[in-house]
Amino acid sequence: MHESLVQLRDDALADLAAAADAEALEAWRVRYLSRKGGALTTAMSILGSLPREERPAYGAAANEVKAALEAAFDARQAALKDAALAAELAAGAVDVTLPGRPPSIGHLHVTTQNLRQLYAVFAGMGFEVYDGPDVETDEYNFGLLNIPAYHPARDMWDTFWVSQNKPGFSEKPGLFPKLVMRTHTSPGQIRAMRERCPEPIRVVLPGKCYRYEQITMRSEHQFYQMEGLAVGKGIRMTDLIGTLREFARQMYGSGRKLRVRGSYFPFTEPSIEADMDCVLCDGKGCPVCKYTGWLEIAGAGMVHPVVLRNGGYDPDVYSGFAFGMGVERPTMLKYSVKDIRYFYGNDLRFLGQF
Ligand code: PHE
Repeated sequence: MHESLVQLRDDALADLAAAADAEALEAWRVRYLSRKGGALTTAMSILGSLPREERPAYGAAANEVKAALEAAFDARQAALKDAALAAELAAGAVDVTLPGRPPSIGHLHVTTQNLRQLYAVFAGMGFEVYDGPDVETDEYNFGLLNIPAYHPARDMWDTFWVSQNKPGFSEKPGLFPKLVMRTHTSPGQIRAMRERCPEPIRVVLPGKCYRYEQITMRSEHQFYQMEGLAVGKGIRMTDLIGTLREFARQMYGSGRKLRVRGSYFPFTEPSIEADMDCVLCDGKGCPVCKYTGWLEIAGAGMVHPVVLRNGGYDPDVYSGFAFGMGVERPTMLKYSVKDIRYFYGNDLRFLGQF
């Protein structure tokens, strides 16, 4: 083969091997194979200047080189394509053996957890859970609980009234009951009594309560209460105190002290407040108990005869006790939560801690 053709072929193949991407490959094609000014075209063009007898051999050799370079080009192009695909696959590969991202699983709200703990303690003493509605009538929230419209005790439970845009409401105000967001769980006492009378009753009534309150670190306009009610024959104040003492023992540990103070509620007579010695300082006095050594756990008392009668029970035959306790407050004490607003702020940084 003609010397210059051998040189051309070897140079071209060496260059091709060095072409590492599509761009270099195209540059190579233009340089060697392009019809205009490609190295091979140039090599062909000298054909006419060769002695006549050398021309056929030279032409054949040049064609052979051309075919070889074209084949080499195709092979290189295919190889580069495969390599690019392999690289792409390797870069985007999914490692199926990696553990998946776990979905974040929620849990019960701290107040719900607390309520369930309360249910468990009182279930052990024979109390069942009884639900009442959040929207109450004025009659159940106040009137039947011995708090008539003029009674100053209504100030203790300032509330939200529910507007009722029913036709005829303004003309005949007596026709529809006035509705309120319940200010305490006590209206449930009447509902339970009217439903169960004359059976004996032992229920707890949990639920959200609403008050027209200035919202502060210590008071929200919505909060939970849990009411307790026992009605039967021969139920006495000592039963109430014993029940609250047992509650304190189970919730906060044996050795808790309980004390009661006289108080006033229109629907109990006599009325008391029950305090427990402070769980944080063991009664020595600390900021949480305001240096009194005591924490208030419930308002309570013997069900007022008027309330018993409103529930359908003859107060000469039946008696009962009732108590009402806050649900958020004990959590605040237990975990030193400074602000009650966290409970309804829906901030997972707070809720996730319980
Ligand atoms: N309902 C009262 C309150 O909201 C608490 C209470 C319940 C007091 C039952 C006595 C008996 O303050």
